Amino acid sequence: MTKKRVLSGVQPTGNLHIGNYLGAIRNWVDLQPNYDNFFCVVDLHAITVPHNPSTLAQNTYTIAALYLACGIDLNHSTIFVQSHVGAHSELTWLLNCVTPLNWLERMIQFKEKAIKQGENVSVGLLDYPVLMASDILLYDADQVPVGEDQKQHLELTRDIAIRVNDKFGSEEKPILKVPEPLIRQEGARIMSLADGTKKMSKSDPSELSRINLLDTPDEIKKKIKKCKTDPIMGLTFTIDRPECNNLLGLYGIFTGKSKEEVSAECSDMGWGKFKPLLTDATIEALTPIQTKYKEIMAEKGYLDEVLKQGKDKAESVANATLQRVKDALGFLTI
Ligand code: TYM
Repeated sequence: MTKKRVLSGVQPTGNLHIGNYLGAIRNWVDLQPNYDNFFCVVDLHAITVPHNPSTLAQNTYTIAALYLACGIDLNHSTIFVQSHVGAHSELTWLLNCVTPLNWLERMIQFKEKAIKQGENVSVGLLDYPVLMASDILLYDADQVPVGEDQKQHLELTRDIAIRVNDKFGSEEKPILKVPEPLIRQEGARIMSLADGTKKMSKSDPSELSRINLLDTPDEIKKKIKKCKTDPIMGLTFTIDRPECNNLLGLYGIFTGKSKEEVSAECSDMGWGKFKPLLTDATIEALTPIQTKYKEIMAEKGYLDEVLKQGKDKAESVANATLQRVKDALGFLTI
């Protein structure tokens, strides 16, 4: 029986944080033996906001190396760079022409990012979700493992696929596979260390708001020491204690303990006792990733080879889908 297909990606903007890891990559690693997987570094998405050309390539390498360091296994998965496969841009144009403008204007992430940028909002930022739809639809992905913040983009992807199928295909012969989001409850929304009501984010100006996968033990210690807490004694999972919920949740994930176990262990604790435990658990979870990352980055040429092979494999799948769409839309082929 052929395995179902998974596709997902991360933008090479700055450092990866534990939200990206726990919301997405960790789940890719767990899922990979049961699926045929494609994981891309979505560098075209990274230029939808002003970017630095002198760091884009290096950041792309970093993300690819982190995929491997976190446990992505090339026996199950293909790793590639989005811009290396031209079909992503080409399908985006075709999908742009069937996507109503108002579907994009109501995207929450567009509205949030557009507000931050004032007059400099690019057409690319508005079009971000169509490019994301192309990433997914080109690979006939069945499942798309992402964090909770990507749910609306996944719904849009489904709507675009259904629209293309309705307009240009038939029920017996759909053109695009309609994918399902795969959002694991635990870790789907890791919150900022500076404000438990806000998502942990790469674009938060405060470094203290997030723990990066490549932070040193000292940085992790400092960030957890300074993170926002509340003045209530006894630590419990309660909706009206957002910081407490988030930090206990992180502790549970990093130690592999259940919510019940964490509750039992921490219900009589104060922050002074809890913070060093969380610090140790975080350092312990990230150290093996950091060690592997350094090994991969030291092996010159290895990553290039991985990405070249990934490109070839991705291209053969993506080009076939692109041709299917072009045929359905009536383009001349010679
Ligand atoms: P990016 O780079 O912003 O985020 C990468 C992944 O990390 C998840 N994530 C979080 N999960 C839990 N808590 C958080 N605080 C948190 N912050 C981020 C995101 O949900 C995402 O899964 N648009 C995508 C990139 C993309 C993509 C795709 C994903 C482009 N094309 C095709 C899947 C399929 C994004 O958010 O990247």
